Amino acid sequence: MTHIIKACIFDLDGVIVDTAKYHFLAWRRLADELGFSFTEQDNERLKGVSRVRSLEILLEIGDLTLSPEEQEAAAARKNRWYVEYIDQMDRSEILPGAEEFLNELNDHGIPFALGSASKNAPRILRRIGLENAFAAVIDGTKVSKAKPDPEVFLLGAAEMGIPAENCAVFEDAEAGVEAGLRAGMYTVGVGEPEVLGKAHRVIPGLAAVTWEDLVQKAQQ
Ligand code: BG6
Ligand code: MG
Repeated sequence: MTHIIKACIFDLDGVIVDTAKYHFLAWRRLADELGFSFTEQDNERLKGVSRVRSLEILLEIGDLTLSPEEQEAAAARKNRWYVEYIDQMDRSEILPGAEEFLNELNDHGIPFALGSASKNAPRILRRIGLENAFAAVIDGTKVSKAKPDPEVFLLGAAEMGIPAENCAVFEDAEAGVEAGLRAGMYTVGVGEPEVLGKAHRVIPGLAAVTWEDLVQKAQQ
C-alpha cells in the first residue's frame, strides 16, 4: 500500500536520543543489587517496553519473584537512578541527523509528534532543548496500552488532526514497529534490518533520511 505522508511521529529513546544506555545502566544496577547479572543482550528485550513490563522481564531473567510492593519499590529505585543519568544530559546527546531532519520537516511545514512509552519523555525533551519542538507529545503518562498496541501513535495522529495512513512512524524497537504497522502508518525502522525487518523500510539513523526521499519511498 502506498502512503501519502503529511505528518511524522517519532519514538524518543533510541531515535531522537540515545537513552537506551542509561536504561541499561540503571536496570543492571538493580539486577546487581538483587544478586544476578544482566547483560546488554538481555537489555534488548526491554527496548520500547514500559517500565512495569521491563521489571517483569528483568525478574524473569534473574529467576526471581518479588511481591507487588517490592516490585513497585524496585521500579521506583531504578527510575531514580535513571533520572540521575538523564539529568546530566545535554543537547550533545541528540542522535546524529535528528535535529536536521526535524528542521527539514519544519521548513516544509510538516507537523510532527512524539510517541514514546517513557514517563520521563518531557524531562528528556527539556534537557535536550526540544520541549517546544513537537506539535504533540504522547508519552507513557497518556496511554493505557503499551506498544505493540498502536494507541500511542493513534493519539499522536489524532492530536495533529492527520489520518493515520498519512503518518510516518520512526521506531527503533520491534514492539514499536509493530505498533506503527498496526496503526496503519508508514513505518520506518531505525536500527538493524535483522531486528526491524517487518517495517516498510529500515534506516540506520535519522541522518540517512530526507523529507523528499521519505515521501518518494512511501509512495512506491
Ligand atoms: C521506552 C524505552 O521508550 O520507555 C524503554 O525504550 C523504557 O526501555 C520505557 O522502559 C519506559 O520508560 P520510563 O522512562 O517511563 O521508565
Ligand atoms: Mg525506542
